[in-house]
Amino acid sequence: MSSHTSNEIHTDPKCFTGLDVYAVAGNPISHSKSPLIHHEYAKQANQAMHYGRLQPELDGFADAAKHFFASGGKGMNVTVPFKLDAQAFADQLTMRAQLAGAVNTLWIQDGKIYGDNTDGAGLVRDLLAQGIALHMARILLIGAGGAARGVIGPLLEQSPKCLVIANRSPEKANELVQIFAGLASSKEVALESRSLLDLESPEKTPYPFDLVINATAAGLSDQSPLSPAALINIFTPSSFAYDMVYGKTTAFMQQALQRGARISDGLGMLVEQAADAFLLWRGAELAQFIRPRAVLAQLRS
Ligand code: ATR
Repeated sequence: MSSHTSNEIHTDPKCFTGLDVYAVAGNPISHSKSPLIHHEYAKQANQAMHYGRLQPELDGFADAAKHFFASGGKGMNVTVPFKLDAQAFADQLTMRAQLAGAVNTLWIQDGKIYGDNTDGAGLVRDLLAQGIALHMARILLIGAGGAARGVIGPLLEQSPKCLVIANRSPEKANELVQIFAGLASSKEVALESRSLLDLESPEKTPYPFDLVINATAAGLSDQSPLSPAALINIFTPSSFAYDMVYGKTTAFMQQALQRGARISDGLGMLVEQAADAFLLWRGAELAQFIRPRAVLAQLRS
């Protein structure tokens, strides 16, 4: 087994001769559903591959990734807290990874490491699969960290009517508005920033939203970014509330339910971003064989 910099939970490519080896890297990682999802896709598309887990030390991502690829690893998904390390590690970034400011998918080709970000595309596909119209929709995105930034580009590409980014620290939301202003104007989307407090004011938040996405880390500590006063302004019974966290009904989702809105956790986004990573690694022509919604149903059963 492996290096001192990386506490591998069972993925040394050298142990899987004859198989192409992939892994998800995060810390912690034992809870990750990615191995299960990718093994399902591999079965559906008849691919000889192994997909395992890697848990680098918090300051050890680059060493662990270097070791993994040097040992024959073909590709890696990257989750919290290493998406920025993964971006720095890649030799070449796709356009959407550059815009997202983070990388969740790495692969090696001709000795070069490529980095992409499939999170935003995964979110958009999950929303569309759930019947949520994005074109001309009024969208509120709560949060301005890495998770929020990763999905702004793909959301704008859908030409919503407006995208409002609200954050506890409003200057961070404002920074994101600056970064994406060009794309927003080319898509004719009104892109604006707010503080969370602004959401409580009917003057600053004069209309409710069709779609409210929680991209903050608040749910992880059983909190919601929304105050009761904000709820009244942003939700109607026809709103859809989406939390990127999965595996529980978060405080944010409970608030939305109380306002009569429909809700979703982020499990579909996980399954869909994995589908994109799988196709990047194994070939886009395999799209006809993989069935992300069936894998999602299986995870929910
Ligand atoms: P990630 O990569 O998961 O987005 P991050 O970059 O640390 O993580 O960003 C966390 C986001 O959650 C930020 O938007 C943060 O708000 P601030 O920018 O004001 O810190 C938000 N956040 C975390 N805990 C929160 C809470 N209890 N209420 C509201 N927002 C919260």
